[in-house]
Amino acid sequence: MLELDFSFHPADAHPEILQMTAAPQIVATNLVRPFRWTDAPGLHDLMHAVGDRGHRAERHDLANFDAELKLPRVKPTSNVFVIEVSGGVAGYSSVYPELDIGRAVVTIAVAPDQRRRGLGRALMTRALERARSIGARMVHVPATAGDQASGAMLQRFAFSPVRHFLRMICKVAPSERKGLDGGYEIRQLRSDEASALAALQNAVFAGTWGYSANTPEEVEARLALPGRGPANAYFICEAEKPVAYAWSHLYHDANGLIGTVYMTGVHPSYRRLGLGESVVSGAVRALFESGAGQVDLEVDSQNILAVNLYERLAFTRRGGTFWYELGLRQPPWGQGSRAQVRGPGDQTYPRPALGPGTHP
Ligand SMILES: CC(C)(COP(=O)(O)OP(=O)(O)OC[C@H]1O[C@@H](n2cnc3c(N)ncnc32)[C@H](O)[C@@H]1OP(=O)(O)O)[C@@H](O)C(=O)NCCC(=O)NCCS
Repeated sequence: MLELDFSFHPADAHPEILQMTAAPQIVATNLVRPFRWTDAPGLHDLMHAVGDRGHRAERHDLANFDAELKLPRVKPTSNVFVIEVSGGVAGYSSVYPELDIGRAVVTIAVAPDQRRRGLGRALMTRALERARSIGARMVHVPATAGDQASGAMLQRFAFSPVRHFLRMICKVAPSERKGLDGGYEIRQLRSDEASALAALQNAVFAGTWGYSANTPEEVEARLALPGRGPANAYFICEAEKPVAYAWSHLYHDANGLIGTVYMTGVHPSYRRLGLGESVVSGAVRALFESGAGQVDLEVDSQNILAVNLYERLAFTRRGGTFWYELGLRQPPWGQGSRAQVRGPGDQTYPRPALGPGTHP
């Protein structure tokens, strides 16, 4: 099993960081304001400059970005905050509510030439206020593994790393698996099957760490995004009933077409039958056939069955994401105690089911 090292502190490896920390210029928190729709181009530019989470390099156009901002739950004029510098968006934070599991997911970034001036702190403070006000019990933040600035900032806010997701990459299409048993059929999704996909996905991931149940409307809206449509999703059905699925995403980065296995899983009653391997290898082969130069995915490092499955399909480990957690029972950082704010019984983590387990 993968050993996680949570003992990392940037100053251990880089004493110069301590000097950088010594004299930050503080930016007033009142520079943070809610997103306005006219910010979309500037926010889009910022996300391209920093990468949405550091290692994602998707080159989507403004129309796609607009469609993502209009997804149900995103509600950017309430949940996204920006700081403008010299007429451009210099930083943002975003709060994605997943209140059915008690959490909000916060993402945050500051333009490289505006860092170490307190923008990140101001944006995080505002995001935590928003998360608290909508009733979240905890906040989770994804940060690229090994990124010292984000690790340092999150630890300054008393976040703790709670989960590690592996990023895995496959550069060669997997060979054809032996045929499915007679009772099963693999096929692409039809355009009217958003409800069936939502029902299967919710059954697969119920109780899995970080999974918030999706409504059919939410799944339908995501299926309408470019590169994520039914043509990139597969069901394995038993007598017409979907029992396993793989939902992929095909997009351009700076070097060409990339495929991502976005969500995949097998209904709990149909596990250990080889259906997961069949549906993932079918979806990955289809991505290569569509021109993808490589296929990637993220998987919870504790999900050993899934990690093994991907390794059998020639996926290799390539970095990953740490998920940090902050309980919201006490005032956020800067307004009171900086002591550990996670209380006993705040959260227990069931073992995840098969699948990447990203938050869709
Ligand atoms: C992480 C990030 C948002 C920080 O933004 P920022 O505006 O530079 O952060 P701030 O100036 O407000 O710093 C807040 C605290 O974070 C810590 N910190 C930030 N950058 C740091 C660095 N390079 N080295 C050490 N500590 C750092 C410090 O503790 C700092 O507090 P201090 O100045 O009182 O010591 C920014 O580096 C970024 O956009 N990174 C890329 C996107 C990303 O990784 N997003 C996920 C973040 S969780």
